[in-house]
Amino acid sequence: MPSPDEIRDSQRATWAGLAAGWEKWDSVIMDQLGPVGAAIIEGLDIVEDHQHLDIASGTGEPGLSIARLLPKGRVVLTDLVAEMLEIAARRARAHGVANIETTVCSADDLPFNDATFDSVSVRFGYMFFPDVAKATAEFARVLKPGGRLCSSVWVKPEENPWTTIAMQAIATEAVVVPPAPDTPNMFRCAAPGYVSALYEDAGLHDTAEWDVHVELMTRSPEQYWEMISEHVSLAVAALQQVDEPGRQRIRAHAIANVINFEKNGKVRVPGVARCIVGTKQDASGTRPRDGARSNAGQPPQP
Ligand SMILES: C[S@@+](CC[C@H](N)C(=O)[O-])C[C@H]1O[C@@H](n2cnc3c(N)ncnc32)[C@H](O)[C@@H]1O
Repeated sequence: MPSPDEIRDSQRATWAGLAAGWEKWDSVIMDQLGPVGAAIIEGLDIVEDHQHLDIASGTGEPGLSIARLLPKGRVVLTDLVAEMLEIAARRARAHGVANIETTVCSADDLPFNDATFDSVSVRFGYMFFPDVAKATAEFARVLKPGGRLCSSVWVKPEENPWTTIAMQAIATEAVVVPPAPDTPNMFRCAAPGYVSALYEDAGLHDTAEWDVHVELMTRSPEQYWEMISEHVSLAVAALQQVDEPGRQRIRAHAIANVINFEKNGKVRVPGVARCIVGTKQDASGTRPRDGARSNAGQPPQP
């Protein structure tokens, strides 16, 4: 089992290497993940003067979209990897979003005082933290009483053909070693209730989970393969084991399989994410919205 420092070092190297792919495929990735960002925003109950913290912001979402909703507030975008946050800052400038700042830090060791933020978001970051319980305790610590945490993770591989098609093709040429339990990988948090339990252990209440459907849309099967092989952490790592002829065979395999998803001149491959929301107890010690939420797979009701 790698130590937390080893996990952070390896994640830093992985994501620094993926940053160029994330910038190159920005619009395709943002279209695919947009519904999840919208669901997180819906779960957070954003108010125009909120101080918001976005964890594992990568190239900036959902933090930049949240900043647009806060004309009197601000968003702190954080990530372990400076190269990813540099892209986020470039995207912010390009879109005229000024009420943000960026801080390089690990989710499990936040350089912020207790009770600093009204809300915290984590889109597709949880799976990569060295210690998910410690990170959740940090999110709860920096939230103000009554503040909300909303995150997203991927559900099981079978419901995410947008990535499993590529991984199955890679497995025809490379040994794809199953990750050790509780070490970083895309599907580490896929079990229903996994993230809610972390929230509850960190003292958050009124937790709710709901699924969000996404669709990866590319112009062609060839473009599907190009973008997956340049930005998906699992795929990029596995392809490093394969020589060029092997890569060409994998590419042909993936393209042949994804053709099944081609319709009307576009490739549309589905996937499913899960959003999880929870609330920190308010100052009076009462639960602010007791009974207002259920775990019935619906977004939380305001
Ligand atoms: C899949 S990307 C998500 C980026 C963005 N939130 C989005 O949804 O587009 C995962 C991000 O987690 C970051 N990450 C990995 N380990 C981390 C850690 N220990 N603390 C903070 N961020 C981390 C990576 O650098 C990467 O930018």
